This record gives sequence, C-alpha cells and structure tokens, in this order.
Amino acid sequence: MDTANEVKLQEQYIEKVKKINQNKIPKYTILTMGCQLNENDSEKLCGMLENMGYIQTQDSKEADLALFNTCCVRENAEDKLFGKLGELKRLKEERGIIIAIGGCMMQEKHITDKIKQSYPFVDILFGTHTLHKFPENLYKTIEEKKKLEDIIDINGEIYEGLPIKREGNIKASVTIMNGCNNFCSYCIVPYVRGRERSRMPKDIIYEIEDLAKQGYQEITLLGQNVNSYLRAEHEKGINFGDKEGIHSFATLLKAINKIDGIKRIRFVSPHPKDFTEDVIEAIASCNKVCKLVHLPLQSGNSKVLKEMNRKYTKEQYLALVKQMKEKIPNLTLSTDIIVGFPGETEKEFEDTLDVVRQVKFEQVYMFIYSRRVGTPGDKMENQIPEEQKHKRFDRLKALVESQMQENNQKYVGTVQKVLVEGESKNNKDLLTGRTDSNKVVIFEGSEDLIGKIIDLKIISEHMWYLKGEM
Ligand code: 5AD
Ligand code: SF4
Repeated sequence: MDTANEVKLQEQYIEKVKKINQNKIPKYTILTMGCQLNENDSEKLCGMLENMGYIQTQDSKEADLALFNTCCVRENAEDKLFGKLGELKRLKEERGIIIAIGGCMMQEKHITDKIKQSYPFVDILFGTHTLHKFPENLYKTIEEKKKLEDIIDINGEIYEGLPIKREGNIKASVTIMNGCNNFCSYCIVPYVRGRERSRMPKDIIYEIEDLAKQGYQEITLLGQNVNSYLRAEHEKGINFGDKEGIHSFATLLKAINKIDGIKRIRFVSPHPKDFTEDVIEAIASCNKVCKLVHLPLQSGNSKVLKEMNRKYTKEQYLALVKQMKEKIPNLTLSTDIIVGFPGETEKEFEDTLDVVRQVKFEQVYMFIYSRRVGTPGDKMENQIPEEQKHKRFDRLKALVESQMQENNQKYVGTVQKVLVEGESKNNKDLLTGRTDSNKVVIFEGSEDLIGKIIDLKIISEHMWYLKGEM
C-alpha cells in the first residue's frame, strides 16, 4: 500500500476508535524521553489520540491509556522506563488501563524481550517505523483485547498528513528528515532510526506556510543530520520535485526564509563534516535564520574523533569554526560533547578542554559516554572506568560554567531582540523569552507582548537566564 492510502486507512481507524469512545471522554498520559525529534513524534501521537476522542492528563492515576515514547541514546532513559512500568503495573491491575510503549528503545530486541518477560502486562509495543499505525494498533487492542507488537527493522516510509497536536503556539518543530547514515561508533541512532530519508520540499514548505498562517513565529527544523537533507534522494535518483528550487539544505533554508509570518528559523543537528559553504552562506544571508549554530564536537582530540568515526580532526573543526565566524556576523555556537569514550586518555581529554577554551561556546551539552548494545564503541576493550568518566565530566562542567558566566557578562548592558514566549514558569508576574542566541531572558511586561519580538536591555545575568527591561 502506498503511504497516502496507508494514512487514509489510519484515518478510518481513528474514526472507529472515536466511535468506541462516543459516550465517554477517556484520558491519556504521555511521557516523552529524548531529543526534539522524539518530541515531534509525540506531538503526532497526541494528535492521533485527540482525534480519537482522548484528552490529555498529567495524572496517570486518572488515565485510561498511558503512552511512553522512548529514547535509547543513553542508558538513564532505560532506568526511567522500567521504573515507570513498575508504577503502572498497579494501575493495570486495579483499573485495566491500556499501556503502550513506542520509540527508539523498542527497536532494540534486548529491551523488548525484557519487557515481554518482566512486564507482560504492556499492551502495545511499536517502533520508530510504525508510529503512523498507532490508531490501528490501538483499535485492535481495544476490540480484540490482544497484546500487540508492531516493530519492523526496515527503513520506514515518510507518512504525510498525520494529525498533530503541537506543544505551544509560538514555536514549532518540523522534522525534515529521518534516520542517519553516519554510524558514529558510540551512537545507536542509525540502528534504531534507519537510513536517511528526507521529506519532499513541497511537504515541508506547505507545513511551514500553514504554521505561519496559524501564527507560529519560530520554526526549528529537525533531523539527525540536517545538512545532508536530500542527499540520499540525489544518490538514489529519486524525483523530489521542483518546489522553489529546493535541492539541498541551503536552498531549503532560503525558501523558508521567504515565508511570510515566520520570524525565526533554527535547525538541529548538523554534522561538521557536511557543513558546506553554501550552508554557511545561507545562514549569513537569510535574515530569519538565527545566528546560533549547534555544531556537535563530541571530542576535541583527532585520534578519539577517528575512533568515534566522526570524519573530521580537531584542526578541521577549528578551521570550520573560524570560517563560520568570518562569514556569519554575530555567530554564536553551541555543541555536544561526550567524555570518557573508550580509550580516551587524560591528554586526549585535555584536547576537548582546549577546543572549549578556544571556541567559547554559548552552550555545551555534556554527556558521559554510555555503552550502547550493538555499536562498535560497546565492543571496544579499553572502556574508561565510571569514576574517571565522572571526574572528567566534572572538570569539563567547571570549565563550561566559568565560561558561561564570563559570556553572560557580555550581554549585560546590550540590547537584545527577544521573542516573547509567555509567562515565566517560576514567577507568574514576569514574562520569558529568548534571544537569537537562544538565551532565556526574564522581564516585566504585559501579556500582549507574547508572540512578539521586542528589544530588551539586559540588566543582569544569572547563569541560566538573563534579566531584561523594556
Ligand atoms: N553516550 C553518550 N552520549 C551520547 N550521545 C550519543 N550517543 C551517546 C552515547 N552512547 C550524545 C552525542 C549526541 C547527543 C544527541 O547525544 O553527543 O550528539
Ligand atoms: Fe548518532 Fe553520529 Fe548519526 Fe548523530 S551523526 S545520529 S551522533 S550516528
């Protein structure tokens, strides 16, 4: 069946479940782990559920359905899932709630085996390639009272037109591609999300035009490797149409930059090895593309980078940063770093600190290396002891925090363009927004500013946020 007909079929299942729910308002909870791509998948699951008559609750005690969208990039997500399943067992026994688990972790056989063995009360297991079939699977579980496992190991298709319920009404995420071809040796993603597949340019543009009509101001483009957008399609000779001359990530940015109503464009994550000049030029020339670029470093040592299969050296990374800083005025950078990759010596770790010192990132997302079953990194013999990994992590953290304070100081006294997002979570009398460089700014102002980009003078810095005034 082609993807359009598959989506139509799922729409029929949505109607069937809705009919079952006709005289009641069942409730669901959803717990999402992991990255923004997973969050975007959850928005689709919520969209399907709400079209089936469900409403969301935060309290699993009153839920009729509990849904998990899992991540498997690091091991703490596993502990979280199994802890939660232990809690839900009682609700299953007392009230027979439906429990469904989906997402990346379900693509790992050792995990689904463990669930089937130790948590046999789970009703639906589905993977990353079968998310669109959630209505059908839910219908079958309700009607036939069967336990269902719907996980396939091949590259899933891209299904357009699934319902979606977005988290906010100012910022929206748009997935532009699925999967990854890079096989960094620590990373599980290529095994659980399959090979790179890009959405067609016209589908992305329509989605963003529609978001603009709904009043969304900021778009974040998502993919595991956004700067190889359409590369696989080029290689396979797939016709991706002729929407606004889009044939690459750079041309996609330029086309989105022209969409009226959208004020800011962000994207995660690019890979340094694919950061071509046309993308740098597009960021520089597109006024709506934010000048904060997330450029995952992972390690600052060329030997470790080679072992990680990252395909760039320390020098190449630094040269790329230099080139970007020269060509993109007001550029700021954020990054991901892994400490304690197998075989990493003290001296090699210090190269990472060195790059952090040189580049002065706006934000650093730091991770302790976590062994992932099935990856080359897991089979390496020279694993670093936990204690040592933690020590290195703490050293990196101390450096990053001291740099952050220094960097925050630079904002004080400047005027920043801030997109106002809403009330501050910690103080309802204040508003919160973000600068182009994604820094949180808290300030006093009236509610009618929400959704607007305004000028704020920064008056003080507080590590995780800045204070501003009109
Ligand atoms: N251990 C620790 N961190 C990891 N990441 C990916 N895989 C692992 C792993 N096995 C980090 C990388 C990536 C980010 C999303 O998660 O830094 O960029
Ligand atoms: Fe994982 Fe590397 Fe692909 Fe990113 S580029 S998803 S780190 S394999």
